[in-house]
Amino acid sequence: MTIAYLNNEFLPLEDARVSPMDRGFLFGDGIYEVIPSYGGRLVGAHLHLNRLERGLREVQMDIPWTRDDLLDIFKELLTRNGNGNLGIYLQITRGVTPKRGHAFPEVVRPTFFAYAFDIPAPPDGNIDSATLWTVSTGEDLRWQRCHIKSTSLLGNVLHMMEGVNAGASEILLFDEDDFLTEAAACNVFIVEGSVIRTPALDHQKLAGVTRDMTITTLRQYSDFKVRVEPVSRADVLKADEVWLSSSTKEIAPVIAIDGRVVGGGVAGPVWAAAQTLLAQHRFDTFE
Ligand SMILES: Cc1ncc(COP(=O)(O)O)c(C=O)c1O
Repeated sequence: MTIAYLNNEFLPLEDARVSPMDRGFLFGDGIYEVIPSYGGRLVGAHLHLNRLERGLREVQMDIPWTRDDLLDIFKELLTRNGNGNLGIYLQITRGVTPKRGHAFPEVVRPTFFAYAFDIPAPPDGNIDSATLWTVSTGEDLRWQRCHIKSTSLLGNVLHMMEGVNAGASEILLFDEDDFLTEAAACNVFIVEGSVIRTPALDHQKLAGVTRDMTITTLRQYSDFKVRVEPVSRADVLKADEVWLSSSTKEIAPVIAIDGRVVGGGVAGPVWAAAQTLLAQHRFDTFE
């Protein structure tokens, strides 16, 4: 039985109830996070909380919970759910309103919902056991505030379905000038020889915690060159390796783009080196 947390109470997930007048339900007016954990230890907790706080500031929402309150709730959720390989999903919305209206209500009592869900065992950089990803490509048609981790994810949902309908498991998105932004639910890296490239952050990309951890780890512990710079569609299509990054996957090798094989259809050696390093340092460098 999954134990969730809703507005100051731990309870079975199936018993958690939110009013249909909650602005999260009516408008997608909320901010969320996903934080991975292995054996009861959160990965990159403070990086996730930094982004949560930035997001709340962007949407002008104050919350009554301190960082320590949030960490206490997460630790309790992990314990109550067995301290295995668990992701914490949390969302904070602008609460329940008596009357539907776009403008913020005068009195806001945010709704805080969190629960824990099973995630795969921590990836270790082993080529033989890597989970391999296929992707399609498409034009990024989302809004201009993709840097906010908002619960308004319909744009991402529709892009993900474009990928799924094309027989892929993710989709790489390109802007109107055919430069890479990100994927529907991941950031993206490419490898050319010993150079690893990923686009710079702006309003069209989420500042992925895994992206950040990957760049920091590679710069600190490897001789690979990491360049944060524009990446064109042509760069992606001729890359030696293409990776997705996200909290529940860490670094994930892509083996086909629009049905064309990348990197010989296997996880590449640079991926193996990068994911091995991240596995070694995910706790000591980022906790
Ligand atoms: C649109 C988008 N970009 C990037 C990411 C990766 O972010 P993180 O590494 O913090 O999980 C996500 C994660 O869900 C995402 O939804």
